[in-house]
Amino acid sequence: MKTLYICGAGNSETVRLAQRINRVRRRWERIVLLDDDPRKHGQTILGVTIAGPMSLLQGRDPQATEIANSVTRTTARRWSVRRKMEAYDLPFATLVDGGVDLDGAELPRDLIVFQNATIGPQVSIGEASAVFMSAVVGHESQLGRCCVVAANAVLNARVQLADGVYIGSNASLLPEVRVGAWATVAAGSMVMHNVPAGATLMGVPGKIVYRLSQAELARRAAEAESLTLRHAAESRVA
Ligand SMILES: CC(C)(COP(=O)(O)OP(=O)(O)OC[C@H]1O[C@@H](n2cnc3c(N)ncnc32)[C@H](O)[C@@H]1OP(=O)(O)O)[C@@H](O)C(=O)NCCC(=O)NCCS
Repeated sequence: MKTLYICGAGNSETVRLAQRINRVRRRWERIVLLDDDPRKHGQTILGVTIAGPMSLLQGRDPQATEIANSVTRTTARRWSVRRKMEAYDLPFATLVDGGVDLDGAELPRDLIVFQNATIGPQVSIGEASAVFMSAVVGHESQLGRCCVVAANAVLNARVQLADGVYIGSNASLLPEVRVGAWATVAAGSMVMHNVPAGATLMGVPGKIVYRLSQAELARRAAEAESLTLRHAAESRVA
């Protein structure tokens, strides 16, 4: 029986999701939280102890261990934690609530999907992405790596998100909209047109209020290229 290490203690929803999954079919003997903030060590969330920093992953047996990245506040932070986790060469867990229909979707192993989310047919999602409660990823939509779709957001049909896109809660994206890499769509926004890479869009209708510099976008793209994603190939779950 395996141990699941959840990295990042800021989002108790991930702990609850893992416990929900384990109640239906016992996958892990132990669930452990890790966080690099020493002030959190020793605290418990839903009965799960924050055992220490991520370096505790060093030397774990890949046959007896799975890891999950719980950091979702920003995709930049999620990405950097993902890269740290990669270094330990341990398998990522697929944390998908049992009630979510995945038929006809192409999904990576390192994926988090919370309860009541809808993943449409012919959807494809990249490594390290997370889809929150009651969000809708409409049919034939494509999500890049390390995207976060927050609670109740709706991606209508054939929406395309590049790597590192953050979609805030209750945002709505019209069919066929394309969102460029590392863009942020603020909570409650209505997205009617394509969003350029690195933009932050807010409001109804959505307007661009901020843009990352070209240098920062180039840096992130180079970093993404270097990501090994070595678990991707063998890890399709549907
Ligand atoms: C887009 C976002 C990341 C911007 O965060 P930020 O850079 O910290 O921005 P601030 O909170 O400083 O707000 C900057 C301005 O934008 C406005 N604003 C912030 N969020 C907004 C939103 N969702 N819609 C409209 N206006 C918004 C603020 O009122 C403020 O206006 P002002 O300058 O006139 O006072 C954040 O507002 C957001 O929407 N995050 C998503 C949260 C979410 O969905 N979490 C998911 C949980 S599952």
